[in-house]
Amino acid sequence: MASVLLVLLFIVIRSALAKTQPADQDRPTPAVCDTPEEGYQCSTSLSHHWGQYSPFFAAPSEIPPDVPEQCTLTFAQVLSRHGARDPTFGKSVLYAALIAKIHLHTKSYSPNYAFLKSYRYSLGSDQLTSFGEQQMSHSGTKFYTRYRTLLEPKTPPFIRASGQARVIHSAEQFTQGFHNALIANSSASLPFPYHILTIPELPGVNNTLNNKLCTSWTTGRYSKIGTEAASVFLNKFAPPIAARVNANLAGVNLTAAEIPLLMDLCPYETVASAGGAKLSAFCNLFSAEEWASYDYFQSLGKWYGYGPGNPLGPTQGVGWVNELLARLTGKAVEDGTSTNRTLDGNEKSFPLGRRLYADFSHDNDMMGILGALGVYDGVAMPNGTVTGPGENGGFAASWAVPFAARIYVEKMRCSGGEDDEWVRVLVNDRVMPMGRCESDGLGRCRLDKFVEGMDFARTGGRWDLCFK
Ligand SMILES: *[C@@H]1O[C@H](CO)[C@@H](O)[C@H](O)[C@H]1NC(C)=O
Ligand SMILES: *[C@@H]1O[C@H](CO)[C@@H](O)[C@H](O)[C@H]1NC(C)=O
Ligand SMILES: *[C@@H]1O[C@H](CO)[C@@H](O)[C@H](O)[C@H]1NC(C)=O
Ligand SMILES: *[C@@H]1O[C@H](CO)[C@@H](O)[C@H](O)[C@H]1NC(C)=O
Ligand SMILES: *[C@@H]1O[C@H](CO)[C@@H](O)[C@H](O)[C@H]1NC(C)=O
Repeated sequence: MASVLLVLLFIVIRSALAKTQPADQDRPTPAVCDTPEEGYQCSTSLSHHWGQYSPFFAAPSEIPPDVPEQCTLTFAQVLSRHGARDPTFGKSVLYAALIAKIHLHTKSYSPNYAFLKSYRYSLGSDQLTSFGEQQMSHSGTKFYTRYRTLLEPKTPPFIRASGQARVIHSAEQFTQGFHNALIANSSASLPFPYHILTIPELPGVNNTLNNKLCTSWTTGRYSKIGTEAASVFLNKFAPPIAARVNANLAGVNLTAAEIPLLMDLCPYETVASAGGAKLSAFCNLFSAEEWASYDYFQSLGKWYGYGPGNPLGPTQGVGWVNELLARLTGKAVEDGTSTNRTLDGNEKSFPLGRRLYADFSHDNDMMGILGALGVYDGVAMPNGTVTGPGENGGFAASWAVPFAARIYVEKMRCSGGEDDEWVRVLVNDRVMPMGRCESDGLGRCRLDKFVEGMDFARTGGRWDLCFK
């Protein structure tokens, strides 16, 4: 009886709480910040707005991400970003200089900023953090759980990684999480470690998991479009923040351009903590609204720098999409862009007819691929005003390419015969409606329509422009 009353009381309290909780408030702090299923769920009103420095979380999906009831999966491909890392070397230099400037000029720190006085910048550079390793292991576990019915006897997923250390390390951690889930859950076993094909990120090497092959983008004005679009917005959102920060650090005069750098330290310090569990003191210097602006600022940089907003963004994703089409249809790769014909023509380095594939890469590469797939067709990213991911067809850097981001492409058979095959694309668990292949209410496209809809990739995008 008492327990029934307790349960009732619990329900009453919970529904009361649910009513009083504003939409963008944090959920109650969970016991652990990161789980395989949901990703990162601590301090969500901040941490889900850190652009590409957000740790992966399951993005809201209007279409349920579960496999539709009448369908059976026949194929799954994941394309993943590496897990959380320390800042790149170049950024580390800027952060260290920013902190030195603050220490040099500040005469007095207001109470909220007092921690800065003794703060020493001491993050590493370029490598995964231990939390980043955990994220990738969780990602492998999740991939196993979702797609274990596709596992073939004695055959691990076919895995490729772009050649940078953190990407290879991410692939290794993923296989560890996958393998642990496999042995914990079944009598099946696989020889471990699994084979990972690495493709170097070096000049002159064709690599569909690296976005530095398009010469005009790399050396020309195209690479600047992203920073230009972001700086238009920077000059709108950052000056009032700079004024406040300067007022709290008497003596220092930070510029608007230094504000995003100061804000970066919040995600970076947080993902450097054990389990990502310790929210950095930098985070609370800024309001939830300011984090929304920061997210938008980062999103503009990605969209116009590497994604659909850049004339040569989607083109850089064409090679990978053509490889995807080959895997989906079991036919040889047809591509004249970034693929390596030697690798892709060999059964050992590009096997067809497998059911599970996993590729590991970077955010910028994934932005081009998302553009080539057309999952954000029709989305506009105005430079002047903040719009949330919900207003941008699901696009924000935090929803698309966070640390440990993953795109799932799945093929399924739905009640019909052999040729009744469908394809769906999920970006961080959000099912993406696909106008290009006339997806239905469940986000599914018929396989033949999907291939047809990828004509931008099949015709090589604007690869010719890369060398003009
Ligand atoms: C283990 O397998 C069972 C069915 O055999 C499934 O219901 C369960 O979700 C699996 N667990 C994991 C961690 O994948
Ligand atoms: C293509 O791959 C082969 C086999 O790994 C390698 O020897 C060759 O250098 C690569 N060529 C290019 C252009 O990437
Ligand atoms: C801060 O710097 C800006 C330009 O860098 C300058 O216009 C402004 O006067 C400076 N403010 C103070 C208080 O020194
Ligand atoms: C590498 O890509 C270029 C440009 O598409 C192509 O001309 C060359 O044949 C490719 N090399 C290999 C080994 O595939
Ligand atoms: C945003 O900025 C970019 C780069 O400066 C420009 O090409 C684009 O037209 C702008 N878009 C809008 C919607 O203002």
